[in-house]
Amino acid sequence: MTGYGVLAEVYEWLISDAKLPPAEFAASFDDVLDLLPSKAHVLDCSCGTGQLAVGLAGRGMQVVATDASEAMVRRTAELSEEFGASVRAVRASWEELPGHFQDNTFDMVFCVGNSLHHAAGATGRGAALESMSRLLRPGGRLVLTSRTWEVVRARGSRLEIGDRLVRRNGRDAVVVYRWEIAAHWEEEHHVEIAIAQVDATGLVLVRSEVLSCWPYRYEELEVELRRVGLQTELSTFDLEAENYMVVASRA
Ligand SMILES: C[S@@+](CC[C@H](N)C(=O)[O-])C[C@H]1O[C@@H](n2cnc3c(N)ncnc32)[C@H](O)[C@@H]1O
Repeated sequence: MTGYGVLAEVYEWLISDAKLPPAEFAASFDDVLDLLPSKAHVLDCSCGTGQLAVGLAGRGMQVVATDASEAMVRRTAELSEEFGASVRAVRASWEELPGHFQDNTFDMVFCVGNSLHHAAGATGRGAALESMSRLLRPGGRLVLTSRTWEVVRARGSRLEIGDRLVRRNGRDAVVVYRWEIAAHWEEEHHVEIAIAQVDATGLVLVRSEVLSCWPYRYEELEVELRRVGLQTELSTFDLEAENYMVVASRA
């Protein structure tokens, strides 16, 4: 199950103010981008609405953006056109990537913004990471960001209601996350994301979607990365933090 057909239309309400401009989204990865050669070949393999891909293209990189959701790929292509960026946008799930690109193609692959947990369990995650690794040239790097699932699971099932209105495209909205945390780590979990927009007349329009997630512990991720030939170079994992980043290079 892929999802995001509904959320793709309102996804900007889920992106923080700081990361909404493509250049700013890319700048949040400045430290790893400094490691790249000029005109590097980069892949954002869960591109969402395309802010990172467009930001990377704005720096002169040769960018391919892929996503399993047709609606997300369309939004990436639209954003790219709006910014006059040269981004090749392709619909492909992680498992399908080797059918679209040759092995050893990219200097850097990004899988960011809480995407990997949508891979179906350890098997799906292994297949997704294997695809990403294959597409990296030797010495190339995977940049992965993740929710700290140890923290999310410890909080249990709950409602998380935004404490402020988020304004995008002249419209205010409240964002609600409804977490369904299963008894065991390996089970399918769910998160329902609802965006309740309030229009000028006070009418409320709610768009919501239930997404499937398969959480993983950081230590499992490290093992899974090693299994596909990726060596962790940098990790910001911290049990006190909501998110972390891992940079792993291909042997
Ligand atoms: C939370 S969004 C993150 C989007 C973007 N990276 C960002 O940071 O804003 C997760 C993305 O993963 C994509 N996705 C889910 N399952 C996927 C799969 N099997 N293969 C590729 N992309 C997938 C979704 O369509 C969605 O665009």
